[in-house]
Amino acid sequence: MTAIIRPYAPQDRQDAVRIINAAAQAYRGEIPDDCWHEPYMAPEAVDAEIATGVEFLCYATGDGVVALMGAQLVRNVRLIRHAYVLPEWQGHGIGATLIAHLCRDGDRPILVGTWQAATWAIRFYERQGFVRVAEVDIARLLRSYWTISDRQVETSVVLARPTLGADAVAHLLATGGGPS
Ligand SMILES: CC(C)(COP(=O)(O)OP(=O)(O)OC[C@H]1O[C@@H](n2cnc3c(N)ncnc32)[C@H](O)[C@@H]1OP(=O)(O)O)[C@@H](O)C(=O)NCCC(=O)NCCS
Repeated sequence: MTAIIRPYAPQDRQDAVRIINAAAQAYRGEIPDDCWHEPYMAPEAVDAEIATGVEFLCYATGDGVVALMGAQLVRNVRLIRHAYVLPEWQGHGIGATLIAHLCRDGDRPILVGTWQAATWAIRFYERQGFVRVAEVDIARLLRSYWTISDRQVETSVVLARPTLGADAVAHLLATGGGPS
């Protein structure tokens, strides 16, 4: 399969929305009902994420764009944001390839947040070398580095690469955690 990985461009918007909402069907019936909505991400929400600094990579095959994944630099960490592969393309290493690209710069810790209920996603990140942070650190990391609802904070987990122990989390938050 010939595939290319390239930065998202404005003409990818429609594909991006289609891919996100097709892949996000995995959440239906798994995440809490009050967190599920359809579409899972509207076009304006994708625009808003880009406006706040999320940089997406697209994975394109002969069939067009089939996956996208974003990264966002937030002070002293890099966040992986919005990882979505079209269902029919999942399980072929595309997610692993995209995350490897996004994690190439090892200049700062990389964090990813996902739903507690998304066990497949947690497993995917663990296979890519991410390790769950301790329960006590989840909410303060999410509140420091993400802008998400209280409900999403209480129903999410955070994984980090490299592993972040209690001291490392405290150091990160002290040096770049932003306003509390
Ligand atoms: C989670 C997600 C992004 C992972 O992307 P992906 O392309 O399916 O992931 P990969 O193929 O790289 O890895 C997934 C599995 O395929 C396996 N795999 C990797 N390369 C493979 C290959 N060449 N052939 C077959 N299987 C392969 C991996 O071992 C992995 O197995 P595991 O889940 O049992 O550990 C994707 O499945 C997805 O969009 N899911 C729905 C939305 C979602 O949950 N997103 C996460 C948001 S936080």
